[in-house]
Amino acid sequence: MQILIRAAGWRDFGALLHLQRQVVRESEHLAATGGERKEPIVFAFAKAVLHRKRVHTLLALSENQPVGYITIVFGKFRKVGETAYIVVGVRASHRGHGVGTALLTEAEKFARSRKMHRMELEVFEGNEGAVRLYEKLGYAIEGRRREAVKTQNGYSDIIWMGKLL
Ligand SMILES: CC(C)(COP(=O)(O)OP(=O)(O)OC[C@H]1O[C@@H](n2cnc3c(N)ncnc32)[C@H](O)[C@@H]1OP(=O)(O)O)[C@@H](O)C(=O)NCCC(=O)NCCS
Repeated sequence: MQILIRAAGWRDFGALLHLQRQVVRESEHLAATGGERKEPIVFAFAKAVLHRKRVHTLLALSENQPVGYITIVFGKFRKVGETAYIVVGVRASHRGHGVGTALLTEAEKFARSRKMHRMELEVFEGNEGAVRLYEKLGYAIEGRRREAVKTQNGYSDIIWMGKLL
């Protein structure tokens, strides 16, 4: 599969929102469920403009169509400003082909180019494939938010993972 990774620009805004909603609908391991991401596009756009210095998104394109994204959020205040928090998602139809790996690798390059010291993420404990992927790329489990997720059978944890650059 031929994959191109590039920075998302303003012209990608609608397509990115659509992609994020698709990924949410297709995954049981994300906090939001399908109907919960209802924010009107103008609100989302205004937020993106306000936070444009700290929030950066890379898109993965296959045959010119967005199939995955990674959002990199730099810490808001100076003391935590060298930490980059990431969120990654790939369309179900394109998982298992290296898209997630390519996005994480490019995000790390970008973070290094911005002199970040650390990358971090949160992952549901049931998302074992994702945890393996992050470990393979050098992320370590750093802690747990115990029983943060309500499931059909009770509660489960959210795992914090981090990588020092
Ligand atoms: C997690 C996610 C981003 C991985 O993207 P991807 O393009 O499938 O990942 P890759 O193809 O680059 O990597 C696959 C590797 O990760 C592991 N992996 C990822 N997802 C997996 C799954 N569902 N089941 C088993 N292994 C999985 C495999 O071990 C594989 O390793 P290998 O290359 O040695 O075979 C993608 O599955 C996804 O978007 N899931 C839904 C949303 C989500 O969970 N986001 C992460 C929130 S923390």
